Amino acid sequence: MTAAPTVVLVGPMGVGKSTVGRLLADRLGVGYRDTDDDIVTAQGRTIAEIFVDDGEPAFRAIEKHAVSRALTEHDGVLALGGGSILDPDTRALLAGHRVLYLSMDVEEAVRRTGLNAARPLLAVNPRKQWRELMEARRALYEGVATAVVATDRRTPEEVTQIALDAL
Ligand code: S3P
Repeated sequence: MTAAPTVVLVGPMGVGKSTVGRLLADRLGVGYRDTDDDIVTAQGRTIAEIFVDDGEPAFRAIEKHAVSRALTEHDGVLALGGGSILDPDTRALLAGHRVLYLSMDVEEAVRRTGLNAARPLLAVNPRKQWRELMEARRALYEGVATAVVATDRRTPEEVTQIALDAL
Protein backbone atom coordinates (compact mmCIF):
# COMPACT_ATOMS: atom_id res chain seq x y z
CA MET A 1 0.00 0.00 0.00
CA THR A 2 1.29 3.48 -0.80
CA ALA A 3 1.37 6.00 2.04
CA ALA A 4 1.33 9.79 1.70
CA PRO A 5 2.57 12.34 4.23
CA THR A 6 0.04 14.30 6.24
CA VAL A 7 2.19 17.34 5.64
CA VAL A 8 5.55 18.05 3.99
CA LEU A 9 7.72 20.83 5.44
CA VAL A 10 9.96 22.92 3.20
CA GLY A 11 12.02 26.03 3.90
CA PRO A 12 15.59 27.17 4.37
CA MET A 13 18.07 25.46 6.66
CA GLY A 14 17.80 26.69 10.23
CA VAL A 15 14.18 27.79 9.88
CA GLY A 16 13.09 25.12 12.36
CA LYS A 17 11.74 22.37 10.11
CA SER A 18 12.85 19.60 12.47
CA THR A 19 11.79 21.34 15.70
CA VAL A 20 8.41 22.45 14.33
CA GLY A 21 8.05 19.17 12.46
CA ARG A 22 8.37 17.15 15.66
CA LEU A 23 5.95 19.44 17.54
CA LEU A 24 3.50 19.25 14.66
CA ALA A 25 3.75 15.47 14.51
CA ASP A 26 3.09 15.26 18.27
CA ARG A 27 0.06 17.50 18.03
CA LEU A 28 -1.31 15.54 15.05
CA GLY A 29 -0.49 12.17 16.65
CA VAL A 30 1.60 11.02 13.68
CA GLY A 31 5.26 10.16 13.08
CA TYR A 32 8.06 12.49 12.02
CA ARG A 33 10.62 11.82 9.29
CA ASP A 34 13.43 13.91 7.80
CA THR A 35 15.04 13.18 4.43
CA ASP A 36 18.44 14.52 5.60
CA ASP A 37 18.43 11.82 8.32
CA ASP A 38 17.40 9.20 5.75
CA ILE A 39 20.33 10.19 3.53
CA VAL A 40 22.88 10.12 6.38
CA THR A 41 21.64 6.68 7.45
CA ALA A 42 21.62 5.26 3.92
CA GLN A 43 24.99 6.72 2.96
CA GLY A 44 26.81 6.24 6.26
CA ARG A 45 28.25 9.75 5.81
CA THR A 46 27.31 13.22 6.99
CA ILE A 47 25.67 15.66 4.56
CA ALA A 48 28.84 17.80 4.69
CA GLU A 49 30.97 14.79 3.74
CA ILE A 50 28.73 14.01 0.76
CA PHE A 51 29.03 17.64 -0.43
CA VAL A 52 32.82 17.60 -0.08
CA ASP A 53 33.39 14.11 -1.51
CA ASP A 54 30.85 14.05 -4.34
CA GLY A 55 29.73 17.66 -4.91
CA GLU A 56 26.32 19.30 -4.78
CA PRO A 57 24.84 17.81 -8.02
CA ALA A 58 25.51 14.28 -6.74
CA PHE A 59 23.94 15.21 -3.40
CA ARG A 60 20.82 16.56 -5.16
CA ALA A 61 20.44 13.29 -7.07
CA ILE A 62 20.72 11.28 -3.84
CA GLU A 63 18.24 13.69 -2.23
CA LYS A 64 15.72 13.32 -5.06
CA HIS A 65 15.60 9.56 -4.49
CA ALA A 66 15.29 10.05 -0.73
CA VAL A 67 12.36 12.45 -1.20
CA SER A 68 10.64 10.15 -3.67
CA ARG A 69 10.96 7.18 -1.33
CA ALA A 70 9.84 9.07 1.80
CA LEU A 71 6.79 10.47 -0.01
CA THR A 72 5.56 6.97 -0.77
CA GLU A 73 6.57 5.34 2.54
CA HIS A 74 5.69 7.89 5.21
CA ASP A 75 2.25 9.01 6.31
CA GLY A 76 3.14 11.55 9.01
CA VAL A 77 5.07 14.83 8.99
CA LEU A 78 7.96 14.85 6.51
CA ALA A 79 10.71 17.51 6.52
CA LEU A 80 12.83 18.00 3.39
CA GLY A 81 16.35 19.45 3.17
CA GLY A 82 16.38 23.18 2.49
CA GLY A 83 17.76 22.87 -1.03
CA SER A 84 15.61 19.97 -2.18
CA ILE A 85 13.29 22.30 -4.09
CA LEU A 86 16.17 23.30 -6.41
CA ASP A 87 15.67 20.09 -8.36
CA PRO A 88 12.74 20.32 -10.80
CA ASP A 89 12.01 16.59 -10.49
CA THR A 90 11.84 16.92 -6.70
CA ARG A 91 9.47 19.88 -7.05
CA ALA A 92 7.28 17.83 -9.39
CA LEU A 93 7.13 15.02 -6.80
CA LEU A 94 5.46 17.45 -4.38
CA ALA A 95 2.46 18.11 -6.62
CA GLY A 96 -0.75 16.99 -4.91
CA HIS A 97 0.78 16.96 -1.42
CA ARG A 98 0.06 19.33 1.43
CA VAL A 99 3.26 21.39 1.59
CA LEU A 100 3.96 23.90 4.34
CA TYR A 101 6.66 26.50 3.66
CA LEU A 102 8.33 27.81 6.82
CA SER A 103 9.83 31.17 5.86
CA MET A 104 12.21 33.61 7.51
CA ASP A 105 13.89 36.83 6.45
CA VAL A 106 17.66 37.22 5.94
CA GLU A 107 18.33 38.89 9.31
CA GLU A 108 16.49 36.14 11.15
CA ALA A 109 18.46 33.55 9.17
CA VAL A 110 21.81 35.13 10.07
CA ARG A 111 20.75 35.40 13.72
CA ARG A 112 19.68 31.77 13.92
CA THR A 113 22.45 30.07 12.00
CA GLY A 114 25.44 32.42 12.27
CA LEU A 115 28.68 30.99 11.01
CA ASN A 116 28.08 27.27 10.89
CA ALA A 117 30.65 25.07 9.21
CA ALA A 118 28.36 22.05 9.54
CA ARG A 119 26.15 23.71 6.93
CA PRO A 120 28.41 23.68 3.90
CA LEU A 121 26.54 26.34 1.92
CA LEU A 122 26.99 28.90 4.70
CA ALA A 123 30.57 28.40 5.79
CA VAL A 124 31.81 31.75 4.37
CA ASN A 125 30.21 35.24 4.54
CA PRO A 126 26.82 34.10 5.86
CA ARG A 127 24.84 37.33 5.29
CA LYS A 128 25.74 37.55 1.60
CA GLN A 129 25.20 33.81 1.18
CA TRP A 130 21.80 34.05 2.81
CA ARG A 131 20.69 36.97 0.65
CA GLU A 132 21.65 35.14 -2.54
CA LEU A 133 20.21 31.87 -1.34
CA MET A 134 16.86 33.42 -0.42
CA GLU A 135 16.66 35.32 -3.71
CA ALA A 136 17.33 32.13 -5.65
CA ARG A 137 14.94 29.97 -3.68
CA ARG A 138 12.01 32.06 -2.43
CA ALA A 139 9.90 31.66 -5.56
CA LEU A 140 10.63 27.93 -5.65
CA TYR A 141 9.41 27.47 -2.07
CA GLU A 142 6.31 29.52 -2.83
CA GLY A 143 5.73 27.51 -5.99
CA VAL A 144 5.48 24.17 -4.16
CA ALA A 145 3.73 25.46 -1.02
CA THR A 146 0.05 25.04 -0.26
CA ALA A 147 0.49 27.15 2.92
CA VAL A 148 3.16 29.55 4.23
CA VAL A 149 4.04 30.35 7.86
CA ALA A 150 6.48 33.19 8.60
CA THR A 151 8.66 32.15 11.54
CA ASP A 152 10.42 35.50 12.19
CA ARG A 153 10.54 36.31 15.90
CA ARG A 154 8.16 33.46 16.70
CA THR A 155 8.82 30.50 18.98
CA PRO A 156 8.56 26.95 17.58
CA GLU A 157 5.36 26.50 19.63
CA GLU A 158 3.81 29.64 18.09
CA VAL A 159 4.81 28.53 14.59
CA THR A 160 3.34 25.08 15.24
CA GLN A 161 0.00 26.55 16.34
CA ILE A 162 -0.18 28.82 13.29
CA ALA A 163 0.74 25.85 11.08
CA LEU A 164 -2.05 23.74 12.61
CA ASP A 165 -4.53 26.54 11.98
CA ALA A 166 -3.30 26.84 8.37
CA LEU A 167 -3.58 23.12 7.56
C1 S3P B 1 20.81 22.33 2.37
C2 S3P B 1 20.07 22.17 3.52
C3 S3P B 1 20.36 21.12 4.50
C4 S3P B 1 21.06 19.92 3.86
C5 S3P B 1 22.23 20.39 3.07
C6 S3P B 1 21.88 21.40 1.99
C7 S3P B 1 20.49 23.45 1.45
O1 S3P B 1 19.16 20.66 5.11
O2 S3P B 1 20.18 19.20 3.07
O3 S3P B 1 23.20 20.93 3.95
O4 S3P B 1 20.92 23.41 0.29
O5 S3P B 1 19.77 24.37 1.87
P1 S3P B 1 18.36 21.45 6.29
O6 S3P B 1 17.49 22.45 5.62
O7 S3P B 1 17.57 20.37 6.93
O8 S3P B 1 19.38 22.04 7.18
